[in-house]
Amino acid sequence: MRVLVTGGAGFIGSNFVRYLLKERADWDVVNLDLLTYAGNLKSLEDILDHPRHTFVRADISDQARLCEALQGHFDLVFNFAAESHVDRSIADATAFVRANILGAQTLIDLCRERGYGRLLHVSTDEVYGSLGEHGLFTEDSPIKPTSPYAASKAAADLLVLAAARTHGQDVVITRCSNNYGPYQFPEKLIPLMILNALDDLPLPVYGEGVNVRDWIHVADHCRGILTVAENGRSGSVYNLGGKSERQNLTVVKSILETLDKPESLIHFVTDRPAHDLRYAIDPTFVEAELGWTPRHDFETDLRATVHWYRENREWADEVRSGEYRQFTESWYGKRLGDETAG
Ligand code: NAD
Ligand code: TYD
Repeated sequence: MRVLVTGGAGFIGSNFVRYLLKERADWDVVNLDLLTYAGNLKSLEDILDHPRHTFVRADISDQARLCEALQGHFDLVFNFAAESHVDRSIADATAFVRANILGAQTLIDLCRERGYGRLLHVSTDEVYGSLGEHGLFTEDSPIKPTSPYAASKAAADLLVLAAARTHGQDVVITRCSNNYGPYQFPEKLIPLMILNALDDLPLPVYGEGVNVRDWIHVADHCRGILTVAENGRSGSVYNLGGKSERQNLTVVKSILETLDKPESLIHFVTDRPAHDLRYAIDPTFVEAELGWTPRHDFETDLRATVHWYRENREWADEVRSGEYRQFTESWYGKRLGDETAG
């Protein structure tokens, strides 16, 4: 087997490439990534020279470059490549339209024109929009994205499904809840809070911290993606969730407790515009059809994740240099000067 992974220098993609090399001992993995601010070869340091791993730098929305960069046949294609941070999409959605929508279509077309095998498109529960206090997302929940990020992911999902119906392409989609674990870019809630707490910096909690996310360990997500790619029904969508709903404030307090840091570090700041209240996945379909279920315990593995960031400061410092600093200053600068009561 020879497989293509796009976005394999990002958080989930790098965990997935590492997982594939270990779990599928006879697979060759071509890892294609643009290396945006969120993609870092530092996240692949231990496997860059692996004999079954080849890294290629390219943009999935650049058709000419993609055609030139990719030679030979692929039995499976995994598309992780995307702009992934909601706050950035609020600040400027342009890159999201290019990478998440144009990029997805460019890849879909290439798969068809070159006769590659199945395309697994990695999507998110955020395409369903927000839940109220009750209920769960199923695969039949309406697509009602709120943020530009979620809207761009929803557009890509629809293009992938259209390719299946119009051209008979072999595709599957996974929609997963919020991931945590090693190598997550420290702009997302859990790594940001861990690193700020380690440095005794303010922990900027949006609004009152009551928003709920359904946390899944990245290893459970990776296992789910491989299960769906190998055994899923062509043209289908599979929801993957962690069965671990937690309010943001609960997560932040657990991080502080693990690090033995005071709750006075928590700063309630101006809320994110149109902040989705709650996400929660009903994974019944994938459990019944493919036997996948999340295995990780949130409290145990959140503590392990906190320790990972504490022990990998060098990685965090390196990926946080450069462009990331500018975004942090423009996004949080005003918020932290304008704290709310919480
Ligand atoms: P990430 O931001 O950490 O990584 C994205 C990677 O894609 C980076 O390495 C980046 O360089 C690369 N990339 C961006 N634009 C590209 C382009 N045009 N061409 C090639 N490479 C490009 O994101 P992540 O958290 O690892 O998410 C990976 C995928 O999983 C995304 O599609 C995201 O929507 C989806 N997802 C993420 C979560 C989550 O909690 N993080 C949950 C559900 C689904
Ligand atoms: P995030 O990690 O950005 O993921 P998503 O918005 O895709 O779910 O945010 C997770 C939750 O944490 C979300 O409710 C927003 C909140 N949050 C904060 O309170 N403060 C922050 O600085 C960040 C980045 C997120």
